[in-house]
Amino acid sequence: MRIFHTVSGLRDALKVHRREGLRIGFVPTMGNLHQGHLALIEQARGSCDIVVCSIFVNALQFGLNEDWDKYPRTYQDDCDKLAAFGCDYLFHPDDTEMYPNGLDTQSRVICPTMTDVLCGASRPGHFEGVTTVVTKLFNIVQPDEAVFGIKDYQQLAVIRRMAEDLCMPVEITAAPIYREADGLAMSSRNGFITEQERPNVVVLKQSLEWIAEQIHAGERNFRELEKLAVERIADAGFKTDYITVSHSKTLDPAAEDDLEITILGAMFTEAARLIDNLSIRLD
Ligand code: PAJ
Repeated sequence: MRIFHTVSGLRDALKVHRREGLRIGFVPTMGNLHQGHLALIEQARGSCDIVVCSIFVNALQFGLNEDWDKYPRTYQDDCDKLAAFGCDYLFHPDDTEMYPNGLDTQSRVICPTMTDVLCGASRPGHFEGVTTVVTKLFNIVQPDEAVFGIKDYQQLAVIRRMAEDLCMPVEITAAPIYREADGLAMSSRNGFITEQERPNVVVLKQSLEWIAEQIHAGERNFRELEKLAVERIADAGFKTDYITVSHSKTLDPAAEDDLEITILGAMFTEAARLIDNLSIRLD
């Protein structure tokens, strides 16, 4: 695996492959890689000739009171994992390389739909930071395909919309949620869950599944289901950020006759905020 810390170095290396007509796959990450990230690398490997991964903990997508400084950085370990999973190129820029003119005056990419609800409601500016950095990374790597996890469902939907709206010449593909044995979605923030909390955090996934069961059984009062799920989560000792039954594409609150539905949830533990989602199709 070749590692680049500069935009120009990576561009020069990839230019050669582009001229050879090879298909370039890209997996952007913030590092602290787990099986979920590595599954995205494997997926890109399966459909592309060259796989590029980036590791960059993007300050622009963290709020002032969020965990940018505490975000786990495990660079050496990440490099070993990527090399073992057949990643060809790692892009690991520092803040100055990515934001040479500083964060405050950085030009931004704004996706006006879907970004101020759900995670965007409790993390103002978060998705603007994501769309801006992902656009920059797309311009640096110029991939044919970029793989994103369904784990961050809203992020995936926003990026799909951005790529469509701005005619970005990249195919966005989705990878399934990778989970721990008990069903907890893998996340770099799972390390912040305490030992006492750990057996109970699966309540988030279970609550989404419970809502799906009720819908399959014919229940269509979605707002009531959301309310009851919040109560389940409170009974397990956690505060809910949101539980919503949404339209899978627009992320608007689902209407009774919607056929493609995604149930999304976020809850707080003492030191982490966990998210999960579940999509269902009604025929
Ligand atoms: P990060 O949280 O590191 O996630 C990188 C990619 O891995 C995202 O596409 C995410 O959805 C996916 N991923 C994380 N956990 C997963 C799991 N358990 N199963 C499957 N895929 C999973 O998301 C980001 O970084 C950033 O916002 C980024 C897109 C890199 C922009 O900074």
